[in-house]
Amino acid sequence: MEVVIDASPERLAEIAAEAVERVLQRNPRAVLGLATGSSPLLVYRELAARCAAGTLSFREARAFLLDEYVGLPEEHPERYRRVIERELEQHVDFAPNAVQGPDGTADDLVAACARYEAAIVESGGVDVQLLGVGTDGHIAFNEPGSSLGSRTRVKTLTAQTRRDNARFFDGDVEAVPRLVLTQGLRTILDARHLILLATGRGKAEAVHQLVEGPVSALWPATVLQHHPHVTVLVDEAAASRLQLADYYRETWASKPAWQHV
Ligand code: GLP
Repeated sequence: MEVVIDASPERLAEIAAEAVERVLQRNPRAVLGLATGSSPLLVYRELAARCAAGTLSFREARAFLLDEYVGLPEEHPERYRRVIERELEQHVDFAPNAVQGPDGTADDLVAACARYEAAIVESGGVDVQLLGVGTDGHIAFNEPGSSLGSRTRVKTLTAQTRRDNARFFDGDVEAVPRLVLTQGLRTILDARHLILLATGRGKAEAVHQLVEGPVSALWPATVLQHHPHVTVLVDEAAASRLQLADYYRETWASKPAWQHV
């Protein structure tokens, strides 16, 4: 696992955007994994800027979202499918229907999850997956206690996550759905490169656990320790609980230029 600590969230976003750009340059038909939440927003801004400058195109790419709320009406602004439209799709050149998310409006949610897993496999799998992390160590919506071998399924949010996400629902915890659909931990591990972004003191414990803690369902993000290619991009505050921070800084500072993230 590579840990990059940088005081500037803009620089962290640039590093992530460069990685996405390299994947698309190698293969314009690459499959991207998109995350919602505030952590990837600067990355989306950076990708949009590169697209506007003509150095990057999503025309042939496809993308899959990590997760979705259950039961929010199709046009609800906090439906993750709408969030990603607003934050990324409207600013880049994806083809129509190139971006998919789990269908939280389906009558048969179990079947919707199975269809979603199959669609990811049929696409050839995710080349680069952007991730955030919840304060309780969840990735996508895999809450503590999630099976480390899980696939896309229905989950119940913890009270903590609903409180954290209430800021997107005018501070009203009751407006945050209890049920969600989420790629499983095993689904996420199938992506070829995972890039996790975390900023702020509130993420420090989760970041410490995910990088240095014992692998445990109690901190679902720790499962990333089993993946051969993970890049963790954190600011100073999110890095403040890391035991080996000096080593990570030294490694990054002396990284050979040819060896990209
Ligand atoms: C949500 C999302 C996750 C995200 C997490 C952290 O619960 N389902 O994918 O990583 O929140 O969000 P933020 O980046 O806003 O802190």
